[in-house]
Amino acid sequence: MVLKKDFLWGTSISAAQAEGGWNEGGRAPVQVDYADSGNASSSGRRLLFRKADGTRDFVPGAYAMFPHLPEGGTYELFDDVYYANHNASDFYHHYKEDIALMAEMGFSTFNTTISWARIYPRGIEGGLNQEGVEFYRSIFTELRDHGIDPVITLYKYDEPVYFEQTYGGWSNRAMIDEFLAFAKVCFTEYKDLVNKWMTFNEINVLLLFRNLPHDRKIAQEKFEELHNQIVAAARAVKLAHEINPENRVGTMLCGQCSYPFTPDPEDVMFTYKEFQDLFAYCGDAMIRGSYPSFAQRLWDEEGVHLEITEQDRKDMKEGTSEFLGFSYYMSSCRTTHKDASVVSGNVFTGVENPYLEKSEWGWQIDPVGFRYFMHLIYDRYNIPLLVIENGLGAKDRVEEDGSIHDSYRINYLREHIRQLLQAADEGVDLMGYTTWGGIDLVSASTGQIEKRYGLIYVDMNDKGEGTFERKRKDSFFWYKKVIKSNGKELD
Ligand code: BG6
Repeated sequence: MVLKKDFLWGTSISAAQAEGGWNEGGRAPVQVDYADSGNASSSGRRLLFRKADGTRDFVPGAYAMFPHLPEGGTYELFDDVYYANHNASDFYHHYKEDIALMAEMGFSTFNTTISWARIYPRGIEGGLNQEGVEFYRSIFTELRDHGIDPVITLYKYDEPVYFEQTYGGWSNRAMIDEFLAFAKVCFTEYKDLVNKWMTFNEINVLLLFRNLPHDRKIAQEKFEELHNQIVAAARAVKLAHEINPENRVGTMLCGQCSYPFTPDPEDVMFTYKEFQDLFAYCGDAMIRGSYPSFAQRLWDEEGVHLEITEQDRKDMKEGTSEFLGFSYYMSSCRTTHKDASVVSGNVFTGVENPYLEKSEWGWQIDPVGFRYFMHLIYDRYNIPLLVIENGLGAKDRVEEDGSIHDSYRINYLREHIRQLLQAADEGVDLMGYTTWGGIDLVSASTGQIEKRYGLIYVDMNDKGEGTFERKRKDSFFWYKKVIKSNGKELD
């Protein structure tokens, strides 16, 4: 089993979940800055705000899935709430140390996102924030100096709240121009430092509203938001190539691997239809360059009418993604039968699979599903795959001597990498693998930093107590060996 010589190894983090420094360097607030730190047993995080009548309220959700504030609501911070994302892992102040640790592990790549709120805190009108531009230049220079070739994502649900207040969010086409202005700055300023980009992170998560109670108005708005993001992404791909023909631009989708719970043909159809709706709808639009044959059925089901201009269609055709980044954590089962018990997951939930073990957070661990899913999407798109998120969220214990024995995490990663090697052997074209959250960071769904994914431990707990000191976990040393042997030494 052999991976390509230039196979990329590293980890992935995101600005909002790792950086902190939420009000430093000219950065404007983003939605998740107003979300509490949640806990594993809660039904989700709470986005707190002030209602028009002066009372305090919240809307439930998770990072990526918070709704707009209700009419008349205003964003406000409350003294008695702990906001975990404000400091997160303090990558903002620790990035040099973190990059040195990544280099020590032998990383050839690193994925993070650029916070739009550091570049254009108040949109085009408010002007460019040079301090934000320099912050990322310094990170990318540091990476290059350590021989790390970054893959950078432009958008991960963290536009300044200014856009919601000004335009009402992504359903307004003005957002396309705002995004392109932001993208242009990134492609131009970092031209000599970055040549692998992804436009939107897990763009298909926008479609998860379908699993929640909703009306036609919400469906119309969500499909418009998504269409505007798809068009913005296509135009950004074209722009990236105009600015630097060496640029390779991909998209990133949330991997949802589902099995029919029973052999009932209704379950099989239901499961496949969900793959079409939640994954292939976006994948086809961004990789094949047009909406799929089943799109009209989907719009009809939701009573949605989309205005798609000729220019949109042209741009989608011309601005297709060259590689497919995706996340994979777990699989679940789907059924039309009502009596099955449900399991949890970060964004997708489903029916419990009796053949699989669960993580402490109830996510079903399925390395073979990882290989199955790689085949499924590679067979459909035939472009290189980049595994951009994979990992185990778990509680870690620091021993008296400072060591952290995270054999559970090593086991999870080992079994997934084994399947990745087999997939490569079976013909899947793989560009690289980055674990999720290699530096402990704030969980998207629960807001906990104690749900740790890292190879590098961050001394911080869910109450905001800690020093942000970094420690190497056992998985740090194990991953270093894996990278050095290009995946051959897994034990
Ligand atoms: C991915 C998201 O789907 O799941 C990440 O892109 C997120 O932002 C990850 O952190 C793991 O989920 P959670 O809820 O454990 O943080």
